[in-house]
Amino acid sequence: MIKNNVAEILKLDGLFLEEIKLKGWVRTFRSNRFIALNDGSTIHNIQCVIDFENTPEETLKRINTGAAIFIKGTLAESQGRGQSVEIQVSEIEILGDSNPDEYPIQPKKHSFEFLRENAHLRVRTNTFGAVMRVRSKLSFAVHQYFQERDFNYVNTPIVTGSDAEGAGEMFRVTTFKDNQAPISEDGKIDYTKDFFGKETNLTVSGQLEAETFAMALGKAYTFGPTFRAENSNTTRHLAEFWMIEPEVAFMDLNGNMDLAEDFIKYVITNILEKCKDDLAFLDQRLTQEEKNKPQAERSEMSLLEKLKFVVENNFKRVSYTEAIDILRNSKPNKKKKFQYPINEWGADLHSEHERFLVEKHFKCPVILFDYPANIKAFYMRLNDDGKTVRAMDVLFPGIGEIVGGSQREERYDVLVEKMKALNIEEKELWWYLDLRKFGTAVHSGFGLGFERLVQFSTGMSNIRDVIPFPRTPQNADF
Ligand code: 4AD
Ligand code: MG
Repeated sequence: MIKNNVAEILKLDGLFLEEIKLKGWVRTFRSNRFIALNDGSTIHNIQCVIDFENTPEETLKRINTGAAIFIKGTLAESQGRGQSVEIQVSEIEILGDSNPDEYPIQPKKHSFEFLRENAHLRVRTNTFGAVMRVRSKLSFAVHQYFQERDFNYVNTPIVTGSDAEGAGEMFRVTTFKDNQAPISEDGKIDYTKDFFGKETNLTVSGQLEAETFAMALGKAYTFGPTFRAENSNTTRHLAEFWMIEPEVAFMDLNGNMDLAEDFIKYVITNILEKCKDDLAFLDQRLTQEEKNKPQAERSEMSLLEKLKFVVENNFKRVSYTEAIDILRNSKPNKKKKFQYPINEWGADLHSEHERFLVEKHFKCPVILFDYPANIKAFYMRLNDDGKTVRAMDVLFPGIGEIVGGSQREERYDVLVEKMKALNIEEKELWWYLDLRKFGTAVHSGFGLGFERLVQFSTGMSNIRDVIPFPRTPQNADF
């Protein structure tokens, strides 16, 4: 069966049908004859040639950029350049008008800032159409990877009473009305009277709940929205983003690193096969954009080269301690070019350091492991040295941290000690501690920020341009 969409029609290649029916939107209309029609099925438009002498003036006037139309016609070899086939239109109907004086998405170059303000319409542009099709294919590949390997998809709660990362950057969930929250004797808001009878927030991670599934079903993964109220106005942070979190019983940190690397390579290989046209377009777009940058800032590889490079090369595995030595002795550190100078072991790494390691030093994706315990979350397994934990971060060019994960502390006593030291209440996480009381075992997992993966895969420089409707400080439109 031939599907009536542009993607399928362009694939016909020589097999010309008697009659084609298509619905889509006008991208451009020129010389009162040539409509570039797009229906979203592909980056490509199909040229529709109308017989303007026999088309009423009234109709011609309504063929404007953005209008929804129905056309009937025959497929023919194109006379013009730029396309191999075109549709000779016999019938045209305007389904939905688009007033050219009002429609913001005109056929010209718009800035990404302007398009963010018109996020409800930006997916009609080539760039955003391509990005969102790639995003969709990536989502499916994520499920495919885990499902093929017998992981169980678990839907962890979005409203939660615990702070999984212990970072305290959470959005409160409450039904208390403005200024009407009951106050208890100690002068604080009395959350026992709130909807859930306790303080609740939007989750920052599904990890803790996913661990309960790993410790029963062996292999589990989440793929859902997570929320962080950090006031970071960067090109890599969102207040609402999607995270993929696999969690596996009886797997140690080495297995975790293998899993992360294999997983990322799989999903990128998958889109290289399935999104050829969109990636070719995004590749050219990025090359064009890079031309406007000073030579020193230009990437040495094109988008497609970067994607292939990631798939074909091993990620470099380096301990935090080694990385600190490299950074301490690096040129930018000695010349005081880093905003946060690296002086001693124990320093937290910032994006500038991560990107130096990946882009300048190793020139490939890097997995850093065995971080100092005091810069990482409470649940990470303490090493025998008593000062580092079995943590790992996967660092990517242009992105910095794309994955954060660890082997989990499976020893009850050690975990309780750690929680005490960090003032994390046992009664809040009694159920999490139970996993260490009953049938505890080595287990590990990681979190991959889906938008950072889409950013890398599409070469978009701002994370706000790879999620349909970005939520960031001072911005929750649409
Ligand atoms: O490193 P993070 O904070 O790790 C966790 O939340 C663990 N519970 C994951 C786990 O082990 N199951 O976050 C994981 C990843 C980061 O590496 C980054 O890719 C992404 O989530 N991320 C963000 N993406 C967009 N906007 C933000 N504000 C992000 N914060 C983290
Ligand atoms: Mg992290």
